[in-house]
Amino acid sequence: MSEITVRGLGEDEWEQYRSVRLAALEESPEAFVATLEEERGFDEQLWRRRMSRSRRLLAEVDGEAVGVASLGPAGDESGTVSQLFGLWVRPSSRGSGVASRLVQAGADAAREQGQTHLVYWVGTENGRAVAFASGFGFRPTDQRRPMRVVSDEDGHEEIAMVLPLGADRGMPVL
Ligand SMILES: CC(C)(COP(=O)(O)OP(=O)(O)OC[C@H]1O[C@@H](n2cnc3c(N)ncnc32)[C@H](O)[C@@H]1OP(=O)(O)O)[C@@H](O)C(=O)NCCC(=O)NCCS
Repeated sequence: MSEITVRGLGEDEWEQYRSVRLAALEESPEAFVATLEEERGFDEQLWRRRMSRSRRLLAEVDGEAVGVASLGPAGDESGTVSQLFGLWVRPSSRGSGVASRLVQAGADAAREQGQTHLVYWVGTENGRAVAFASGFGFRPTDQRRPMRVVSDEDGHEEIAMVLPLGADRGMPVL
């Protein structure tokens, strides 16, 4: 079986990020806040800014993009929580471990930066994503927020799921 690799993209690789990000928005519009129409119109300067704002992780098999995830600050008071977002795996690669590899890379990067927890906001009715996150080790919290895009598939609310990255198993204040 071909090997799955995950790497962080540099700013100059913005076109690769754009390509996989637009594919994600096209394939799973209900899962993301942004729309394809909106992001298709972004110029090079904005894509480059996006590359430096968050860490963009690309999963590849045989040099072909198969999934993507982003890692950024969660905006918590202590500044010790990172947020994983924009997780997407192309349909033909689902169930093959790509999502785990992406999230593991995100968790490793956050831990290396001294972060204590990783938070993942996910639509309460996005069964597959919730099941994936639970299986990976994320725990559900009592934190909810309204979905900014309402769809039948993902419901009206998002739940914060949290993965402790070290010895502190407690829930962070988000
Ligand atoms: C969410 C996503 C990244 C997960 O990757 P994946 O490769 O599908 O994940 P996995 O197959 O490793 O895990 C999915 C789990 O959900 C289970 N599952 C599959 N369909 C399900 C469903 N409809 N309801 C509940 N669980 C489901 C699988 O059995 C599996 O559990 P297991 O590992 O215990 O068998 C991928 O499905 C995806 O890109 N979805 C579209 C975009 C999206 O929703 N992104 C999340 C936005 S927050």
